[in-house]
Amino acid sequence: MERTLLILKPDCVARGLCGEVLARLERKGLRLVALKLLNVPRALAEKHYAEHRDKPFFGELLEFITAGAAVPLVVEGRNAVAVCRKLLGKTDGAESEPGTIRGDFGNSRSFNLVHGSDSLASAEREIALWFKPEELVENKLFETKFAV
Ligand code: RTP
Ligand code: MG
Repeated sequence: MERTLLILKPDCVARGLCGEVLARLERKGLRLVALKLLNVPRALAEKHYAEHRDKPFFGELLEFITAGAAVPLVVEGRNAVAVCRKLLGKTDGAESEPGTIRGDFGNSRSFNLVHGSDSLASAEREIALWFKPEELVENKLFETKFAV
């Protein structure tokens, strides 16, 4: 079982697509481990996207992610990191396959609805950045014979 961090970005929240995205994650068999709604502090956004610090779009990226409410969440499941990246589609909505979240709901490279950790190492770093250990909830009801 893996855990990964997703963020429903401000465009996703503003467009009322949170339910749609959460439904897709649940339907796939991923289990919710943590979730909250917040206005992302600039310092947190800078840490989250530190790898892009020197990119020309870094300023715009920070402006976007801090522009309105966002929903960071943690899910777990088999191969969760790669499975979530597949559900999201390519970074640019114009290149994402239909059937993916970005492919179905966006046509922008910058406003692409949902973030997903790109590796297990990133997931571990990002989960620790966005959530305190006690915010990761153990849900024993998931422990059923037929869990996906
Ligand atoms: P994310 O980190 O948000 O899940 O997206 P990603 O892995 O698919 O893409 P990444 O390369 O990590 O880029 C991070 C975010 O920066 C914005 N971006 N803008 N204007 C541009 O050329 C450009 N390139 C990337 C996107 O919002 C992307 O999600
Ligand atoms: Mg990325």
